[in-house]
Amino acid sequence: MPRALLALLADGQIHSGRKLGESLCVSRAAIHKKIKKLCEFGADIESIRGIGYRLSAQFDLLSAKDICHELDEKIKLSISDVEVCWSIPSTNSRCLDYSKTYPTKNYVCLAECQTEGRGRRGRQWVSPLGGGLYMSIAWRFNCGAGELEGLSLAVASIIAKTLEVRFGVKGTKLKWPNDILVNDKKMGGILIELVGEAAGPCTVILGIGINTCATGYAVCKIDQPWTDMIRANTSVNFSRNALCAALLNSLVPMLRNFEQTGFPPFRAEWERYDALCGQPVVVQSGIDSYFEGVAAGISASGDLLLDVNGILRAFKSGEVSLRRL
Ligand code: BTN
Repeated sequence: MPRALLALLADGQIHSGRKLGESLCVSRAAIHKKIKKLCEFGADIESIRGIGYRLSAQFDLLSAKDICHELDEKIKLSISDVEVCWSIPSTNSRCLDYSKTYPTKNYVCLAECQTEGRGRRGRQWVSPLGGGLYMSIAWRFNCGAGELEGLSLAVASIIAKTLEVRFGVKGTKLKWPNDILVNDKKMGGILIELVGEAAGPCTVILGIGINTCATGYAVCKIDQPWTDMIRANTSVNFSRNALCAALLNSLVPMLRNFEQTGFPPFRAEWERYDALCGQPVVVQSGIDSYFEGVAAGISASGDLLLDVNGILRAFKSGEVSLRRL
């Protein structure tokens, strides 16, 4: 029902409560209640007294059929299922559950909204209805986690290139390890989780969140400077279905080959988008270890390199931020 109601409002035009009720065979009061619910999910719906309801902008609903239609034939063969959910806690959690039942299958899950979207380092990923692409890919590797160093950076560089080349997002940058920035504001991020044996095989859950058109009260909860594809002035008219398909078309070939290639072929591309190289930064590694230095790019395996008074230190994990001088 909420999806059907949203589909009726998706054109951004005014719709009367009576007509909406007739189309969905429910009362006007029921429509009013459902509209309230959609707003709670994060939809920006204006209620015009005595006239009807209107979405603040056109809404492109996710559709597994439309996504699959735009996938290259070879890519389709590598994926068992593309599932679109309405509201779930987290697409990553869903992939984790799926991989327990079907450990050998590659699976893609998307949601219109997430109630417990997860970010890196235990943070929340604010995921209002239709405000972004919330997608996770469960991908099976024969090797163990140790052989997948740099995978998350490879994913980030491919996403940055797709956003720039295919969707005209100018000024796309990456903040180590895999924050996607535009004009110094965060537009997307990647959360990688792993299940399986240390020596392999293992399943990687690649969670990708990209803000596309974040509106409504939910975005007030974002606790850092952020932007989305609309605000970043993407020069191409896009739909989230097209964005999802384009990402899968470019990510899957990398995933298929990563066990053989490793990170090296993606290093130069990542460095092309490096937001911090040459800048004074602070790296937080562990709970309260802080290192000050100058960001010096990344190593062949994707570690962050930091020049601390002329000595190069490598970090496998941590949080890096610009040091204001
Ligand atoms: C980050 O903190 O930068 C990573 C954000 C990752 C968010 C995505 S949205 C789809 C997937 N499901 C989640 O719960 N998280 C990831």
